[in-house]
Amino acid sequence: MAKRARVAVLISGRGSNMAALIYAAKGPDCPFEIVLVTGDKPGAAGLDLAESEAVQVARISAADLGKTAFFDTLDRMIRESGADYIALAGFMRIVPADFIARWSDRILNIHPSLLPKYKGLDTHRQAIGNRDKVAGCSVHIVTAKVDDGPVLAQTEVAVMPGDTEETLAARVLIAEHQLYSRTLAAYVSRERDPAWIEQRVGDLALALPETRFKTSHGSPGWRVGSESSGKFFAILFNRHHGEESIGVLVKCSGQDELAQLTEDQPEMYFRPAYYGPSDWIGIRLDRPNVDWDHVAGWLLRSWSIVAPPRLTKLMRAAETF
Ligand code: GRF
Repeated sequence: MAKRARVAVLISGRGSNMAALIYAAKGPDCPFEIVLVTGDKPGAAGLDLAESEAVQVARISAADLGKTAFFDTLDRMIRESGADYIALAGFMRIVPADFIARWSDRILNIHPSLLPKYKGLDTHRQAIGNRDKVAGCSVHIVTAKVDDGPVLAQTEVAVMPGDTEETLAARVLIAEHQLYSRTLAAYVSRERDPAWIEQRVGDLALALPETRFKTSHGSPGWRVGSESSGKFFAILFNRHHGEESIGVLVKCSGQDELAQLTEDQPEMYFRPAYYGPSDWIGIRLDRPNVDWDHVAGWLLRSWSIVAPPRLTKLMRAAETF
């Protein structure tokens, strides 16, 4: 199995969702592992459970540190743990916008309502008060506005006659535990899915002038120039010829650069087998934390190497403005 995605979990209290994630990660096929549990309250009960499960725990106190130092410390600890993603699980602090920006699209949260209904607290009381027939829970991407980011998945839970806030919360919690691990697994796997990678590369490639999609020996590729005389500047590479990675092949400046990059940064670059002494270099894309601006830069460079002079001239002229 490919390397598992590394997840840090933030809690403030009992940590039952955190426990559900820890147990899910024990599954042999689970695509994520929990590398750190931390939060804003050093005495949170969930931290003891995580420790007993031999998960790394950091006990830090938002009350002692103050908001700015707390979130700076949190960011540092999460980075030191090597986490690629953050899962909020009953973390009762509003995460500042600059922190979220640094982890853009990498923080998920679970919320005990069918968002966009009932953001914030007291969701079950509101559902019962409004005589809703269904309540439920949502997992969403965290954006700067509280409980507002794109919803990834939801589970509906029927409100039963005679339900109190407590009985409803207890049943929704059962649904939460299943929804969170399943949704997190799907979310981290998405980035290793060839179709998702192809879509992202294609969006970037087709944003360049006079480009079109064309397969190259069965692999998705993108060419610049006319239908008949266009040249490939990007080809998707999906675990061919003993190479484990899914990546994109782009043109580099030549054998020296190819040798240097593949030797210095083997986690990022590879030499595509069966492309002989060509100038194609592979960029690995089935890993977390791909810097897509960097990939876009490579695509542009590759495009500039093979594009007809009339197009590169135009591009250079545009850059001087
Ligand atoms: C859960 O209901 C979760 O949806 C909400 O806070 C609660 C945390 O419970 N965000 P636990 O700490 O995971 O048991």
